Amino acid sequence: MSGLFISFEGGEGSGKTTQSDMLVARLEAECSRRVVRLHEPGGTPLGEYIRDWVKAQSAPLTLQAELLLFTASRAELVQRVIRPELDKGAIIVADRYADSTTVYQGNARGLPLDEVKAANAIATGGVWPDLTFLLDTAPGASLRRVGVQTSFDQEGRVVPIPRPNDTEKRRFENLDTAFHQRVRDGYRRLAKAEPRRWVVLDALQEVETIHAQVWERVQGLLAP
Ligand code: TYD
Repeated sequence: MSGLFISFEGGEGSGKTTQSDMLVARLEAECSRRVVRLHEPGGTPLGEYIRDWVKAQSAPLTLQAELLLFTASRAELVQRVIRPELDKGAIIVADRYADSTTVYQGNARGLPLDEVKAANAIATGGVWPDLTFLLDTAPGASLRRVGVQTSFDQEGRVVPIPRPNDTEKRRFENLDTAFHQRVRDGYRRLAKAEPRRWVVLDALQEVETIHAQVWERVQGLLAP
C-alpha cells in the first residue's frame, strides 16, 4: 500500500472534527495527492445506517451488539474504501478508527480487551494508521466545549444536561464523567504503548496551535 493513513482520536468535544477538517483543507491546498476524509462510524451505506441507528437509540444496547455494530461498519469501510484508496496512493484522514473501539467498548464499557482486539482484527484486516493524533483533554473541559451544560448530582458528580434544542439523541455524551475518564485513560495507555504511531496533543490549546503541531508531523511523512 502506497498511501498514508492518519487518524484522530479523543473524547467527545476534543476537537477531532475541527482538526480533521483543517488537515484535509491544508492537504488539499498544499499537496497534489488525493485526500479522503472519513468519520467513523460511517463512510459506506452500511456505516451511515449503523451510525444513524445507534445514535437514535435511547436505551442501551448490549455491549457485545455495540462492539459488533461498530466493527461491522469498520469492516465495510476498510475493504470498500480504506484499502483501495491506500492502494491508489491516497491520504486518508479518519475522524476515529479502531482505537475508538478499544477505548470505548473495552476500557470504558468494560468488554474484555481480548474480545475487542479480536473483533478489531477481523474488521481492520491488519490495516492500521501510520499516524494517530490523540486530542487529549480532561473530561469536564471537553464536555463544556461540546456545549453540554453540566450540573451536579447528589454525590457531587458532574452530570451533563443535553442542550435544549439538540434533537439528536446524545446517548454517548450523556454518560457520566467516570466513563469519560476511562476513555481518556484508555487512550493515554494506547499512546504510551505505541509511541511511534501516536502523537498526544493538548486539546485545550488554540485550534490554530494544534493544527500547526499536526501539520508539522504530517509534513514529516509526506514525500518531498
Ligand atoms: P460522534 O457524534 O461521531 O462523536 P464524535 O464527534 O466525538 O466522534 O459519535 C460517535 C460516538 O460513538 C462517540 O461517542 C464514540 C462512539 N464510538 C464507540 O463507542 N466505538 C467506536 O468504535 C466508534 C468509532 C465510536
